[in-house]
Formats: sequence, structure tokens, C-alpha cells
Amino acid sequence: MSRVFSGVQPSGNLHLGNYLGAMKNFVKLQEDHECIYCVVDMHAITVKLDPLTLKKNVLEVAAAFIASGINPEKSIIFVQSQVSAHAELAWIFNCVARLGWLNRMTQFKEKAGKNREGASIGLYTYPILMAADILAYHATHVPVGDDQRQHLELARDIASKFNSDFGNEFFPITEPVIMGVATRVMSLRDGKKKMSKSEESDYSRLNLTDNKDEIVNKIKKAKTDPMVLPDLDCLGENGMFKDQILQERPETVNLLNIYSALSEEPMEKVISNFSGRQFTHFKNELSDLAVEVLTPVNDEIKKLLGNNSFMEDILKKGKEKAIEISDPIINETKRIVGYF
Ligand code: TRP
Repeated sequence: MSRVFSGVQPSGNLHLGNYLGAMKNFVKLQEDHECIYCVVDMHAITVKLDPLTLKKNVLEVAAAFIASGINPEKSIIFVQSQVSAHAELAWIFNCVARLGWLNRMTQFKEKAGKNREGASIGLYTYPILMAADILAYHATHVPVGDDQRQHLELARDIASKFNSDFGNEFFPITEPVIMGVATRVMSLRDGKKKMSKSEESDYSRLNLTDNKDEIVNKIKKAKTDPMVLPDLDCLGENGMFKDQILQERPETVNLLNIYSALSEEPMEKVISNFSGRQFTHFKNELSDLAVEVLTPVNDEIKKLLGNNSFMEDILKKGKEKAIEISDPIINETKRIVGYF
């Protein structure tokens, strides 16, 4: 049996990176898997977040799931804090995982930065909660971006240690699902930095809520280089960009990746189409494409957010289905550890 689980944090602007890197893949996976998609609000409060903003963001992520094509009749869409299994299992896993494992997590080091002593303990144990998310459903497959691979590895370690500590095979060893070319959508201002909700300049990202003019404007202003678009020589034998172009023209590679992901055309085809052309031409085409793909998503998100009772109904049903799956698993876990 295979079961997919993934989560998206309601911590601010959803952008093209979330859409191409996560949601589009979620949609594909639901064709032939049982899928559970979670709005992880418990993860979002590991950093300070205004309560009203959190509420608004939760609905926005849920709406974006649906607007991107996740079918709530087929897949489960729910909010993490509404299912107690996550918190309960996280505690048990806090006691299974070792301090040394968490100390290796690079994302904590990055996020805590210099002010490590001032970071919340939640931010530190965040990967444990993520393991609980996944394993509370016995998920076998988790689509994640590159930045979450280490956390998924930790979930595997926790499952193995739990199983060996208690002498069983209760938790599955979850596999990562590698996502397509644009798993890493980079900033429009700096091709070596990931597109992020927290980068100061809004010109660095295409938000799912941007309108047509904003999309066009941001692509027009996106950083490029003084050369023309590259030819097929920039690809290696494996069909991936060669190291040299990745190093020397990261912004160009990023825009080509975005084009290929949005158009769903293979990179060879995209490159052949534009090789030798000027960026003005390529950017016009890219804007048209981005507007064509993103504005219907944007419109649908707005429509869904205007229909509160519909959204609440979906999340309520999602919660019930999530509990149906996680309840027996959490109960068995408690029995295994010997809870009274
Ligand atoms: N940590 C993930 C992120 O920031 C979100 C997340 C939480 C998640 N729980 C998960 C992803 C479980 C996959 C599976 O992107």
C-alpha cells in the first residue's frame, strides 16, 4: 500500500516556488495515490506570527491547494492543529530521537542564525513534528523540496529507531518523492537564492495572488545577464544544465526552468525555441505564459476565499477523514510504548 503525505506552512505569501515545487506535484500524485495534504499551522507558530494573520494564511493555503487542482473529494485536505495525533506523536518521537540528530539539522542553524539562544524550542524540534505528521498516517511517500530532505531522513531514522526499540515493524520507512525540474525555483533577483516569502523585495518572487500587471512587471525587472539565450550546448549528456552555466548564468537557468515548468515542455525544446534570442523576447513570452497559468489560479483562490462556508466544510470533512486514519495508528503507538 502506498500513501502520500505532504505539508505546506501557512506562514505568508504563497509564491511560484510553492506552486511549481509543491502543489503542481501534489496534483499529479493524486491521480494514482491516496494523498493527504496538510496545512501545517503548528509548524508556522515556531516563529512569531500574528494570530489573525495565521488564520487568514491557513485558509489561503487550503484555497491554493484546491485552486491548483487538488480535488478535495479525492484527496484529504486538512489543518494540522485540528488533529491531535500530530502533537501526541511528536511527544513520543521527542523521546525516540536523539539530541545529536537534531543538532545536525542545517535548517535550524540557518533559521536560528546568530540568535540561537533566542530561537524557540519549537523551531528546534520542528523536524520531530514533521516526522509525526508523516508517520501518524503511515505515509510511505512524501513529496518534498530539496530543503526538506534532511528532515525526511530524520523521519526515517525515527521510524527505524522506534521499530527497533520496540521490536516491531510498526512505522514504515518513508521514501522521498523527487519532484520535477523546478523543485527549486530561485529568486528573480538572485539566481543563487531560493525564491522565498521572506526575501525583502517583492520583485524577487511571483506571488500566487499577484495580478497580471504585477506578474508582467516582475518578469520585466527580473535579473538576467548581458548575453543572448544559450543553445543546447548548455545541457550535459544527462539533459541537465552543465556546471559552468549554473555557476555563470544562474538567473538565466532559473528563468528557463520556470518556463519549462510552466509550459510543461522539456528543457531541450525550450532552449531550442529561444536559443540566440534576446531576453526581451524571451521575457515577453515568459510573461504571457506566467499570466496564462497563474491568473486562473489567482482568480480561483479569490473565489474560494469569498466562500467561507464552502472552505470550512472542506476542512471539516478533511479533518474527519484525517482522524479516521490517524486515530488507530496513534492508539496502537500508545499501546506499544505502554501508556496507561
Ligand atoms: N517542513 C515543511 C516545509 O517547511 C512542511 C511540512 C511539515 C511537511 N510537515 C510535513 C512536508 C510533512 C512534508 C511532510 O516545507
